[in-house]
Amino acid sequence: MLELHDLTRRFGALTAVDHVTFGAAAGEMVGLLGPNGAGKTTTVAMIAGLLPPDSGEVRIGGRRLGGDTDPLKSRIGLVTQDLALIDGLSAAENLQFFAALYDLDRQASKRAVAEALDLTGLTERARDKVKTFSGGMKRRLNLAAALLHGPDILLLDEPTVGVDPQSRNAIFENLETLKRRGTTILYTTHYMEEAERLCDRIVILDHGRVIADDTAQGLSKLVPAQNLITVALENAPDALLADGLHALSGVQRVETAPGVVRVAVTDLASTMPAVLQWFTNRGLKYQHVSTERASLETVFLALTGRALRD
Ligand SMILES: Nc1ncnc2c1ncn2[C@@H]1O[C@H](COP(=O)(O)OP(=O)(O)O)[C@@H](O)[C@H]1O
Ligand SMILES: [Mg+2]
Repeated sequence: MLELHDLTRRFGALTAVDHVTFGAAAGEMVGLLGPNGAGKTTTVAMIAGLLPPDSGEVRIGGRRLGGDTDPLKSRIGLVTQDLALIDGLSAAENLQFFAALYDLDRQASKRAVAEALDLTGLTERARDKVKTFSGGMKRRLNLAAALLHGPDILLLDEPTVGVDPQSRNAIFENLETLKRRGTTILYTTHYMEEAERLCDRIVILDHGRVIADDTAQGLSKLVPAQNLITVALENAPDALLADGLHALSGVQRVETAPGVVRVAVTDLASTMPAVLQWFTNRGLKYQHVSTERASLETVFLALTGRALRD
């Protein structure tokens, strides 16, 4: 549905987006993850036809996207990082204003506004002025505005920055509904947990380049220690000698803290039984054991040598 081929954009000496190539199939939700300055907004602006690329191309449904006036642009909905709402108007009036920009006639506009308000859960607040809205509600209205013309592809640029947890969850639910209806979604964020929770696939961008493109599960395989086992001990000795644990095959790293041992392993299924047996053999009783997959933060660190949030 959406393809980017060698998309490149420079600002003076800086190459903000550097030969970026990836795609999103119809109904797929792809996360575009990267730290501030990675080139996410510049990429989104080129897909939306707002910024001409220096080279490379964007394809929508197999057709090359031309300039700002290309009718293909009508298949895209854009939720920008900055809000474009009029505070003194009600939610419904704001949406009517946008519907007019999309050239929808009176009837189509009425229906589109009602549907967008319904999807974003704002129907009851339709007549209230936007200046009475919370930050999260404004974000939801911004999303509603991008949906009026029924786009096949929705681009979201960091839609949850500065949003309360309740509105954040509401936005996630709205996106899941849109995805079920077949909308292709490109979700830009620098929050790895959002990308991990929502997206079918994640493209990691750093210094304008794609450094990884895979499912969350596939990405976690890029790091040597794919899983972390945390063992809380009931009868931990003051000084626990974990050397033997380190020597077990498949154990990457061992950290000890009072009452807790963390073991990073390459493969959970093959190593977990031996790790637990090691504790039992030493008469150490565990009261709680938990495991987690390598986080995207770990993946980013492994790929770039830097933390995602510096
Ligand atoms: N209009 C512009 N003029 C000059 N530099 C820009 C412009 N827009 C973005 N940049 C630079 O391009 C890089 C990528 O920016 P951006 O796409 O906004 O990143 P992100 O959205 O991932 O934070 C940054 O270094 C930024 O300073
Ligand atoms: Mg940005």
